[in-house]
Amino acid sequence: MEQGKKDETLTILDNRTGKKYEIPVTDGTIRAMDLRQIKVLDDDFGLMSYDPAFTNTASCVSHITYIDGDKGILRYRGYPIEQLAEESTYLETAYLILHGELPDERELAEWMWNITHHTMLHENIKKFIDGFHYDAHPMGMLISSVAALSTFYPEARQIHNTASRLKQTFRLIAKMPTLAAFAYRHMIGMPYAYPDNDLSYPGNLLNMLFKMTEVRYNPNPVLERAIDVLFILHADHEQNCSANAMRNVGSSLVDPYSAIAAAIAALYGPLHGGANEAVLRMLNEIGTIEHVPAFIKKVKAGEGRLMGFGHRVYKNYDPRAKIIKRLADEVFEVTGRNPLLDLALELERIALQDEYFVNRRLYPNVDFYSGLIYQAIGLPIDMFPVLFAIARTSGWIAQWEEMLQDPEQKIARPRQIYHGEEQRDYVPIDKRKYQPSESQAAER
Ligand SMILES: CC(C)(COP(=O)(O)OP(=O)(O)OC[C@H]1O[C@@H](n2cnc3c(N)ncnc32)[C@H](O)[C@@H]1OP(=O)(O)O)[C@@H](O)C(=O)NCCC(=O)NCCS
Repeated sequence: MEQGKKDETLTILDNRTGKKYEIPVTDGTIRAMDLRQIKVLDDDFGLMSYDPAFTNTASCVSHITYIDGDKGILRYRGYPIEQLAEESTYLETAYLILHGELPDERELAEWMWNITHHTMLHENIKKFIDGFHYDAHPMGMLISSVAALSTFYPEARQIHNTASRLKQTFRLIAKMPTLAAFAYRHMIGMPYAYPDNDLSYPGNLLNMLFKMTEVRYNPNPVLERAIDVLFILHADHEQNCSANAMRNVGSSLVDPYSAIAAAIAALYGPLHGGANEAVLRMLNEIGTIEHVPAFIKKVKAGEGRLMGFGHRVYKNYDPRAKIIKRLADEVFEVTGRNPLLDLALELERIALQDEYFVNRRLYPNVDFYSGLIYQAIGLPIDMFPVLFAIARTSGWIAQWEEMLQDPEQKIARPRQIYHGEEQRDYVPIDKRKYQPSESQAAER
């Protein structure tokens, strides 16, 4: 990390002792460990900072993704998301995110060949997926089957071996669509459709999801491109909950399959990858345009939230939402208009003029329109976070690689403030006082 300039310091006066400390400020940040020298007594532990949910703590130095939430900017390795969505493909963007630079023609061809030739799964994985109930959530199936991959590739534990890490990277990016599609086919009781190496990455995913009796599945190019763009938009988003899970679990030096399983588990939660599901449920519940004003009134009264609006980081229109909105129009040309779109547009129109939302800087986020596209393509709501997980795999691996190569990183291990009992002596069971709970007492 770059050292702070001499004049960039923070002076702290400890009112407990009257002592002054000068602490370097680098990148607008002080190092929490610099606080440790601040003590009342020599044998004190030293000052700590308290930051539940890491709302004001940088946990790493990163070179991957840049977000300016106030201005609505998102860049991967310096390239604006708008340009990547327009010009790039998901696989090229994944290469960029992982390697730091756009590939030349030969590098891209080699990268694509390697991903395409690792899409098959060991046949035993099928038996494994067969064991799930027909109504198992596909995210549960994905978490378990990715974790299971670690048992098929025990050499993945050699996480300090560059060649092994690259091999697992090919496998993970290549096999995620296959696992996702197998989970989906199991859910709907259809035979698994195998990868077709002649198709593009998103085209092959559509093939494995939707192939029926035809000899060769021909993906619709508009839908194929829509999936590709959605995947570009979801590829990384700096230190979000699942990226943090990937780094945290990976910092124990576990294999990448186990760490990705943890990251997918983090994504499964409704506050993270589940929001686009919530948008569709909300739109279904509102039902018709006439009900929109009443719904907005309820939200403003604190009865529920306008799902797909607002973001911890973006206090402006989420740049991904703008791209997705345009994409939705192209998809609906092929699939027919999703009737819920008119509802979504009306909600957005009203919310963007309403002072409740304007004052709180609540704008549509990435999830507001993405679910409508996935639904139009024919996917059930449960599959939305699964598609998110496929796209985010490249970001998770890049975060993990960066963590492993950062000499400042160690096993992640936060501190705590202990407010529990002081030391006390063990009480044998016959000497413990029985205290009935309130309900037990009421029953007597
Ligand atoms: C994303 C989200 C969790 C960010 O939350 P946050 O940064 O912690 O912001 P807060 O929850 O503190 O909200 C700030 C204010 O805006 C309001 N607000 C935030 N999001 C809102 C929404 N979607 N609908 C209505 N009000 C909302 C809060 O009630 C709060 O109002 P108050 O100051 O009067 O109490 C939040 O905006 C949200 O729940 N959005 C809906 C879910 C969603 O779309 N998530 C996907 C994110 S990609």
